[in-house]
Amino acid sequence: MHRFLSSKWTKAALFVLCLVPLAAVIWPFVHRDTIPNPLEFIQHATGDWTLRFLVITLTVTPLRQLLHLPELIRFRRMLGLFAFFYGCLHFTTYLWFDKLFDPHEIWKDVYKRPFITLGFLAFTLLIPLAITSTAGWIRRLGGRRWRILHRAIYVSAVCAVIHYYWLVKSAVIRPLFYAALVGLLLAWRVGEWLLRRRRTALANAVPQRTPINAAQ
Ligand code: HEM
Repeated sequence: MHRFLSSKWTKAALFVLCLVPLAAVIWPFVHRDTIPNPLEFIQHATGDWTLRFLVITLTVTPLRQLLHLPELIRFRRMLGLFAFFYGCLHFTTYLWFDKLFDPHEIWKDVYKRPFITLGFLAFTLLIPLAITSTAGWIRRLGGRRWRILHRAIYVSAVCAVIHYYWLVKSAVIRPLFYAALVGLLLAWRVGEWLLRRRRTALANAVPQRTPINAAQ
């Protein structure tokens, strides 16, 4: 398993796999299938995949720890960038087909419709994360500051879930399912942080072995 996950081919295969949802969106148009509402079809598919990739990205660290597979970290950046990629497609669909790039209309919508405000926030938060996802930016910011900045992915995921919940009128099962997943992943991180804090406190409470008490 460790060799499989370390292979460059596995990463390449995952990259291709991450493009399958895009192919599934394009395919009916190439195939000239009848789609009753093409805009809705693209908007929903890209929105769904943005959220799915966000959740998958957040799952990497807990899975890595639970399964003792440190190699999984190799895929996290790529998965996060795919969340951003599908988010860009989702947002572009809205800007282009829904609002015809009219800044006044867009601003009015972001300001007046809470579910759009939340979607906008969820997407905007991903921009600095995508920009600073390179090794150069990790070096420039320093590991600690980079990690703090990248916690924004949780805020983005929470905003995305509320965006989804607010836009559906009755079928709330799916947004609630995503809310439970994001809640669980957040709880995992909080639990991990509390455990780390307790361990540090315990380590500090153990009396230091100075030369004097070591001799006793
Ligand atoms: C991280 C960012 C975002 C995520 C994860 C996300 C997710 C979603 C999801 C899951 C859906 C519903 C899909 C379905 O019903 O199957 C959706 C629909 C939608 N989203 Fe987003 N979204 C994001 C950002 C945005 C932004 C920035 C805008 C526009 C400013 C936007 C506008 C819309 C619209 C107009 C719909 C369709 C609403 C309808 O059918 O009435 N979203 N989004």
